Amino acid sequence: MNKNKTLKVSIVMGSQSDYKIMRLCVKTLKNLGAVVETKIISAHRTPKRMYEYASKAEKNNIGVIIAGAGGSAHLPGMIAALTSVPVLGVPVESKKLKGLDSLLSIAQMPKGVPVGTLAIGEDGAINAALLAASILSNTDRKIKNKLKSWRKSQTKSIKKYPR
Ligand code: RP5
Repeated sequence: MNKNKTLKVSIVMGSQSDYKIMRLCVKTLKNLGAVVETKIISAHRTPKRMYEYASKAEKNNIGVIIAGAGGSAHLPGMIAALTSVPVLGVPVESKKLKGLDSLLSIAQMPKGVPVGTLAIGEDGAINAALLAASILSNTDRKIKNKLKSWRKSQTKSIKKYPR
């Protein structure tokens, strides 16, 4: 890792079909001023690509990885097994089990290799981005300030009384 280079958030997904959800990570992080890259990597369909990517993540100045996958979603856990860069997992809704399979396969990692698991679908994708920004904000003041104003405007947007 090059200490003078800005750490980026790397957003990976198991399929092009996951992008409709994972694009929300991209959008949220860009609004917060984070440097983002996106890739399609499948643990079972492109295992060599996954290995190459994960084993070089730290060297490539990746500060946080967000991995989204659906079904028997082993992508986040397999990546986490290959790197010490923090990995956040977004369970993508699956056709048959509505994402419960994705959620459990990401959240239920046995002890020793953690994956920070977010909610299924859109909420999870947005929260993964906010959490990634929060992790980077420990060392990046610009992101910290943007995150603070984002929170303030969210608070402001909540009306006091119903109409
Ligand atoms: C998983 O299978 C992907 O993460 C995706 O959510 C799901 C379906 O993939 P496609 O059949 O749309 O390529 O590997």
